[in-house]
Amino acid sequence: MDLASSSGRALPRGSGAAEERRAEEPPGLPPGCELPPTRQTARWVMRPLAFLEELRARHGDVFTIRLAREPPWVMVSDPELLKRVFQAPADVLHAGEGKRVLEPILGLNSLLLLDGERHMTHRKLLLPSFHGDRVKLHEAEMRAVTEAEIARRPAGVAEPAAVWMRAIALEVIVRAVFGVSGEQRRARMRDALHELNVPANADEARAPAFLRARERVDELVYEEIARHREDPDLRRRDDVLSLLLQSRYEDGAPMADVEVRDELMTLLVAGHETTATTLAWALERLARAPAAMARTVAEAEAGGGPYTDAVIRETLRMRPALPMVARVVKQPFELGRWTIQPGTIVAPSILLVHHRADVYPEPGEFRPERFLERKPGTYTWLPFGGGVRRCIGAGFALLQMRAMLSTLLARARVRVVDPEPEPLRTRAVTLTPGNGAVVAIEPLT
Ligand code: HEM
Repeated sequence: MDLASSSGRALPRGSGAAEERRAEEPPGLPPGCELPPTRQTARWVMRPLAFLEELRARHGDVFTIRLAREPPWVMVSDPELLKRVFQAPADVLHAGEGKRVLEPILGLNSLLLLDGERHMTHRKLLLPSFHGDRVKLHEAEMRAVTEAEIARRPAGVAEPAAVWMRAIALEVIVRAVFGVSGEQRRARMRDALHELNVPANADEARAPAFLRARERVDELVYEEIARHREDPDLRRRDDVLSLLLQSRYEDGAPMADVEVRDELMTLLVAGHETTATTLAWALERLARAPAAMARTVAEAEAGGGPYTDAVIRETLRMRPALPMVARVVKQPFELGRWTIQPGTIVAPSILLVHHRADVYPEPGEFRPERFLERKPGTYTWLPFGGGVRRCIGAGFALLQMRAMLSTLLARARVRVVDPEPEPLRTRAVTLTPGNGAVVAIEPLT
């Protein structure tokens, strides 16, 4: 499963596009980058933070960027305006519509892709699976999966942590969300998911290789749904699939199999790469900050603690796995002194608001202590988005990251080979470490 294959969306489509684009643009856009879309795309991919910070220095907290093959994006990083965006009525800004590229994999009933009333109905069905008490039930498994993966790593060999973090995050989803039990069935599911990549465009979504991989995954997912439905102990199971099968619409109807399938795929796509990338960034940051590493290691044996949580929050601040979210404007939308017209994308810039010096002094410094001293602000710390679209897996992700980090640091020491920080890259919709967070781990004896 590679989310990044959808990077095709933000790839250059050839020179001369800038002028074409301008003619079709909605009127009254805030000023912004004047480079051709191909060059803006290259900067967005290769130097996202520098690109956005330069534009903010020139234009302030609201500006427009133009990426190849995309409508104009109005980037926002003012906390008051972000509040307006996240609280906007569901018929004015659409969150689901901007993610249509995911439809071939997620289907028509995915929480990520729905808007308006259907979105709220589905959100209510999914939310109970992610309540704190429920999520806690998966902690022991998260630790066990991490231990098994650490035992497989070759000692002392420098390799990208992002790769094995993805393996751990995938295994956790296969067990805790899909509820697959038995090593053989898990291996089949893992293998099938490995073959399935998110198509970048309509052509890729029609390609036989994609259709075959999706068919194989669907076959296994429907088999798992049937197996769960037949299980007389369904009520005693803790996995998300079991809870979805027991959930009911307001009229008492259960979810159809296809709806359950689409939500399982949604949780996989939304939850696995994001968590793995954040953990990879946490290691990338910590391995270059010996004092912070020492404090985190000191809490590891006890399973993590306030400092470990602060490390995770600071990592999510400096390196949010999703650097922005997108809203398609459906009706004229007042944003400060601008009226944004339909057809535009309003994009809360999570990365930029997390680098405001007035909120986070010396924002380029990795300083977990910031989050020991105070709680994250609703509209100044937004790694999980906000409003009615806020990440439903946030509690699950925070718990998993604490479990993974503390389990790893209780068993091994983590060492960097190159002391230079890794560059930031935008890969599809995620902000990733340029080299995949290369570290060596030395197991403790
Ligand atoms: C560090 C890990 C994670 C990060 C940074 C993250 C971030 C986000 C963000 C920013 C959004 C809002 C998208 C928008 O406004 O358009 C979101 C939504 C969502 N996330 Fe997460 N997420 C993470 C982990 C997870 C996990 C573990 C799951 C589930 C297993 C999950 C499931 C979802 C779902 C279903 C939505 C859609 C909510 C809706 O539209 O109502 N996420 N996530």
